[in-house]
Amino acid sequence: MGGSGLVVSDLSVGYGPVRALRRVSLQVPEGAVVTVLGANGAGKSTLLRAISRTLSFHGGAVVEGTVSLAGRRLDTLSPDRVVAAGVSQVPEGRQVFARMTVADNLAAGALGSPRSRRAAALRRVHELFPVLAERARQRAGLLSGGEQQMLAVARALMAAPALLLLDEPSLGLAPLMAERIAETVKEINEQGTSVLLVEQNAALALRLAERAYVLEVGEVTLSGPATELAASDEVRRRYLGVVDEDAAADAARAGTGTRTLTRWRG
Ligand SMILES: Nc1ncnc2c1ncn2[C@@H]1O[C@H](COP(=O)(O)OP(=O)(O)O)[C@@H](O)[C@H]1O
Ligand SMILES: [Mg+2]
Repeated sequence: MGGSGLVVSDLSVGYGPVRALRRVSLQVPEGAVVTVLGANGAGKSTLLRAISRTLSFHGGAVVEGTVSLAGRRLDTLSPDRVVAAGVSQVPEGRQVFARMTVADNLAAGALGSPRSRRAAALRRVHELFPVLAERARQRAGLLSGGEQQMLAVARALMAAPALLLLDEPSLGLAPLMAERIAETVKEINEQGTSVLLVEQNAALALRLAERAYVLEVGEVTLSGPATELAASDEVRRRYLGVVDEDAAADAARAGTGTRTLTRWRG
């Protein structure tokens, strides 16, 4: 289990005296899409920052716990070494360099990766997002919100990561654009990149992921196969906006299926 993929064990994080994560454990098997669901403020971005080692830029620090990829500890590395180890993050709110061209944003994502790999990476992102090839010379700030999200994902892919960390890629996008981003995440995964997707849009995330974790006020409260979470009353009510009667009717129809969801109560 410790051999392949991402393993987060008993991770606690604080911003000064504020504890944002409490003993969070999760795994992203090699080649998988795993999602972390949670309301605003649950600690989703904090989790990704802890993995990418960018917490200190936000005044945060890991208090306890470990993070490793393919058996190698990441939690002792600098952020650029984490990228070199195969983990790239698409931060919340995209954060493209607005005054730089699309091409220069992509080049920035490839800094530190071997020159020989850059051409192939650029070809890959232009195939995934043809619009970025068309707009190569434009300033990134002139792109639409959806195109900026594409650029943010593409920039992360320029480092040819084994694992992509995605922080609410659908946030603020029209449903059709969110759908396109979702399709692309699927395609990226099918090309062999593992994905840890953090989302408030549970319907979208549960469709993409094979496993899901629910984060509430810094703690994992529920985890299991995405299809089972999508069918659970609690998730349907709280994260999918299904009213009680529908959920009750569905539960009655489903009968007493085997439950493999794991619940934590501290
Ligand atoms: N830079 C920061 N400084 C202090 N507290 C923070 C900072 N970023 C987040 N927090 C706090 O940590 C908790 C988790 O936040 P966050 O990880 O951003 O949640 P989410 O991404 O799920 O919305 C919240 O209580 C939030 O107020
Ligand atoms: Mg967030």
